[in-house]
Amino acid sequence: MNESVADDVAALQAAWRCLGSAAGRDRPLAETEFDQESDGENPLWEIVRWMPADDWLGRWSPKPAFMPGDAETLMALVQRGLEMGALQQRFAWAIPSPSDLTWMVDLLAGRDVVEIGAGTGYWTWMLEQAGANVAAYDIHPPGEGNGYCTGGPYADIADGGPEAAREHPDRALLLSWPPRESDMASRALDAFEGELLFFAGELNPLVVADEAFFKRLATDWTPVSAAPGHVAWWGMKCVLAAWKRSVD
Ligand SMILES: C[S@@+](CC[C@H](N)C(=O)[O-])C[C@H]1O[C@@H](n2cnc3c(N)ncnc32)[C@H](O)[C@@H]1O
Repeated sequence: MNESVADDVAALQAAWRCLGSAAGRDRPLAETEFDQESDGENPLWEIVRWMPADDWLGRWSPKPAFMPGDAETLMALVQRGLEMGALQQRFAWAIPSPSDLTWMVDLLAGRDVVEIGAGTGYWTWMLEQAGANVAAYDIHPPGEGNGYCTGGPYADIADGGPEAAREHPDRALLLSWPPRESDMASRALDAFEGELLFFAGELNPLVVADEAFFKRLATDWTPVSAAPGHVAWWGMKCVLAAWKRSVD
């Protein structure tokens, strides 16, 4: 664990010691049966483990959520960037848990991956540690010029848009939180000639991608499965799921 992540984890652990519990948020994820150990480096997961496990509507639990507690402690955590928005910009918009990565690698069955809109390259880094080769593309390197992602880069990301998917028919396509009100995801599906698709995000065109993407998903693709127990931010109906191309 690098120093700044270790400091972040220590800050969260210290906050648990001085905060009281709130209904439904009395333990960090690390102290529940949902905890998982990383095989390699996964700093976002190491931080998320020390956030509250919140059973939100009982549908996608556990949920890392804001810490319960007094305003001063909360403000100190927010100022450290230990809240959803800052962690999404620094690492990734969806949280890749160790079991998510195992689930993906099993479905990949030796295939490699092409990722469009890779942001910081965090998912690419995670998949590469899990043994997959990833061709990652984004039109903006992470940083000031990218309105969504400032951390990293955690992997090599080529300059490229959705049409780059056409160059990789033998790989699986990964789209994680494709931008809202954007045709990036539907254009990637148009260009992609392969058989397997991974999507992380909400299944809602008001939140990610656009109507055309979800229509294409419904007509041309068949659901395979969803990663069991995918950990999502509190209030986010984020899924990690796979589709295969439908047979005509
Ligand atoms: C919400 S972020 C998600 C980043 C990353 N996939 C994740 O889950 O953390 C959306 C990303 O899509 C990229 N993007 C937007 N339009 C794009 C396009 N036409 N082609 C490639 N990338 C694009 C943005 O630069 C940004 O990095």
